[in-house]
Amino acid sequence: MRPGAGGRRNVTNPPWWRNAVIYQVYVRSFADSDGDGVGDLEGVRARLGYLADLGADAIWFTPWYPSPMADGGYDVADYRSIEPAFGTLEQAERLIVEASGLGLRTIVDVVPNHVSSAHPWFVEALAAGPGSPARQKFWFHSGKGPDGGQMPTRWVSSFSGDTWTRTVNPDGRPGEWYLHLFTPQQPDLNWSNPQVRAEHEEILRFWFDRGVAGVRIDSAAMPVKDPALPEVPARPEPGAHPFIDRDELHDIYRAWRAVADSYPDERILVGELWLEDVERFARYLRPDEMHTAFNFDFMARPWEAKELRASIEATLAAHAPTGAPATWVLSNHDVTRPVTRYGRADSSFSFAAKRFGVPSDLDRGTRRARAAALLVAALPGSLYIYQGDELGLPEVEDIPAERRQDPMHYRSGGRDPGRDGCRVPLPWSASNPTAGFSPDAAIAEPWLPQPADWAARSVEQQENEPDSMLALYRAALRTRRTELLTDDFSWLTSSADVLAFRRPANFVCMVNLGTEPVPLPEPAELLLASGPLAEGFLPPDTAAWLRH
Ligand code: GLC
Ligand code: MG
Repeated sequence: MRPGAGGRRNVTNPPWWRNAVIYQVYVRSFADSDGDGVGDLEGVRARLGYLADLGADAIWFTPWYPSPMADGGYDVADYRSIEPAFGTLEQAERLIVEASGLGLRTIVDVVPNHVSSAHPWFVEALAAGPGSPARQKFWFHSGKGPDGGQMPTRWVSSFSGDTWTRTVNPDGRPGEWYLHLFTPQQPDLNWSNPQVRAEHEEILRFWFDRGVAGVRIDSAAMPVKDPALPEVPARPEPGAHPFIDRDELHDIYRAWRAVADSYPDERILVGELWLEDVERFARYLRPDEMHTAFNFDFMARPWEAKELRASIEATLAAHAPTGAPATWVLSNHDVTRPVTRYGRADSSFSFAAKRFGVPSDLDRGTRRARAAALLVAALPGSLYIYQGDELGLPEVEDIPAERRQDPMHYRSGGRDPGRDGCRVPLPWSASNPTAGFSPDAAIAEPWLPQPADWAARSVEQQENEPDSMLALYRAALRTRRTELLTDDFSWLTSSADVLAFRRPANFVCMVNLGTEPVPLPEPAELLLASGPLAEGFLPPDTAAWLRH
């Protein structure tokens, strides 16, 4: 890496994505313009002003493509079109242009690991039968055992259960199996097939040509598989897992980067990489691969100073040699809302530990989520905000079983609460029974039920409250925009329960994760605080931004 291009660069105009605030829109739950109970693109278009006022630089749309919704849109049937319930391609094009007029860039989600079983490629492959070229775009394989009745591997799905489903041959007899790391409605693509690679590079161009500024790469560590189909070793060596983090992936993303770099203005690749090994993670951020990748380590840690400090240090250290900026993520459409998570006795996050009936003190969770918002907004790098976190929405934990939609829930036999609780349609106002999510003349209920108190948490309500979560986010992002443009960062000495660091221009962020108030530095000008301060002291679960 050339000196000066690393994590410590100090230039006045870094590229937009190095410190961008990226707002994640889960389209289905953002705003419904036509009253069918499903969020849509016109709903987003009507709220672009809200996102600009909030202080976002870009919008990441979770998949907006035609989909049977077996996995909330991550089962894509056509990568070059829009889900009819969400709108049309023309509307998407208009949305991209109008957003850009307000200073909001667009990032689309691309899903390389799998397609929907309704995708024409898979439909064709099933019909074409064993040995056909159409099947070589997927992982069709004969089964084990005398009648081929056993799965080719015992790989376990991220959504619990099996990863292979047996097909029926055109003659009605049991046939080959196909691989799906997620649901059976999401057959995995075979990335050693050149057509698969070529197709996805064209999909990137399709959206870049329409003005999108970047792509979020879904399940980015999974598309390549070991063709020998071995079982997963108990402790796989780095790069030796049969379907996670295979070395061949880098070549794919280098080709994607070349596509992105063929545009005169910058188009970026953002990877969804769940990897524990920071060195392996950083390999994806080499200068000719992805621009950034989500940092899930921070999000998984509990609300403890030691843990969060360790995560910040490890994150910055892992990124430094790559020159890529860190990313900070408090939540997304897959994980428990921060207000609920931070109100629990165990405030860490893991998919494996999710279960029903874990109590949460939402007042405490809200205080901590407010402090966490100021903490992440003050760190160097880019910041992701999941829709509704700026309203302090809690996880909705009492969705009736028959209304739950997430395959993570029902594939676990009902043990795992799934991800519906963070996907409940947003409250915009008190104007109607859907808390303003749908228009007054709605013809259908919101696709997931909203809690009775949702309107009290609405945007309209919070706009009138100076101490609301929304007001805090707006103030924080406004300050960030002028104060926190470079990557300079240094820790300040503090007691063990406190995180304190300095950013440029004597900007100091201080967070108290302990149980006792701690003295604020003097003399200092208070820029913003996540909660009321006691005279000269920072109370527990509170963050302050100061000029010191
Ligand atoms: C990613 C998405 C998640 C989806 C999965 C399969 O992890 O964030 O929502 O279920 O990939 O596509
Ligand atoms: Mg709608």
